[in-house]
Amino acid sequence: MAGCRRPGFPVRRCLLFVPADQDAKLRKAATLPCDGVILDLEDGVGSAGKREARAAALRALEEIDFGPRERLLRINGFLSPWAADDLAALRDARVAPDTVVIPKVNGPDQERAVIRALEDRPLQLVAAIESARGVFAAREIAAFSPQVTGLLFGDGDYLADTGGQRTSRTLLYPRSIVVAAAASAGLNAIDTPYLRLGDLAGLEDDAREAAELGFVGKAAIHPEQLPIINAVFTPPPEQIAWAERVLAASSSPAQGVFVIDGVMADAMTVRIAERVLAAARVPNGYRRGSE
Ligand code: COA
Ligand code: MG
Repeated sequence: MAGCRRPGFPVRRCLLFVPADQDAKLRKAATLPCDGVILDLEDGVGSAGKREARAAALRALEEIDFGPRERLLRINGFLSPWAADDLAALRDARVAPDTVVIPKVNGPDQERAVIRALEDRPLQLVAAIESARGVFAAREIAAFSPQVTGLLFGDGDYLADTGGQRTSRTLLYPRSIVVAAAASAGLNAIDTPYLRLGDLAGLEDDAREAAELGFVGKAAIHPEQLPIINAVFTPPPEQIAWAERVLAASSSPAQGVFVIDGVMADAMTVRIAERVLAAARVPNGYRRGSE
């Protein structure tokens, strides 16, 4: 179970995508159990609706109270005709989002372009890694700027690029790279959304695999997915109790190895326990009862 890597980073167990031109869904998202809402201008919005979605996103940021949820805006990609207008609108927005999600990042150039365009607004950036080039550049993308606080893996575009079929085996390599690249720069790694609506058992298996690899959270596309994703990425009480036992047992000075529940433990166990407790603390995001 991985926690926020740098102190002060947002908790991102579950980020809900909402097409920015769908006002009712945006208003609903602001009441749902998710740590963040991704207002989408990119692939969730058809080409005919781009201008309207951009205006709707800015209006939603002004009008809707998202409570403790992080407000992320996914702009269009740099190979599209819309990215420049998205950035211009963002620069002039009366209310800015907390974070810009940059899609289809193939290298640090796209991050540089966003940072330049938003010079006066040092917003957080989440870079989506969803191509073969993005996977191979993931380390540089993660380390490019302190404004980058997370990497988001996108399996659909990745498989469209590489030509493979979606199985946990084919995704193991890019997912592992995204987790390692994020960790190398002290960032969050967030997993791809699960697109099979209604298949909650499949979602749970997929989310558990991502959590086992070290992802701190997973994107969602539908409200039904949120309870499962939250449960998978929130440490259960027995894991928290274990972490507290580890810290208590390791608190005697100058301790090397010790034994917890019949298993040898040492300094690395303490680091894992600290990570579990960090993941259990929720400084931002959704808390039960806060909706
Ligand atoms: N955010 C907030 N509310 C959502 C939602 C979302 N992503 N998806 C569905 N809902 C709401 C619906 O508005 C509906 O609300 P209501 O009962 O108050 O009317 C309720 O949840 C049930 O929705 P349902 O009828 O099952 O789904 P749908 O057919 O309206 O929508 C999708 C299905 C896939 C189109 C929709 O879930 C969606 O837009 N998801 C996000 C897609 C996206 O952003 N993709 C880009 C990134 S991969
Ligand atoms: Mg994509």
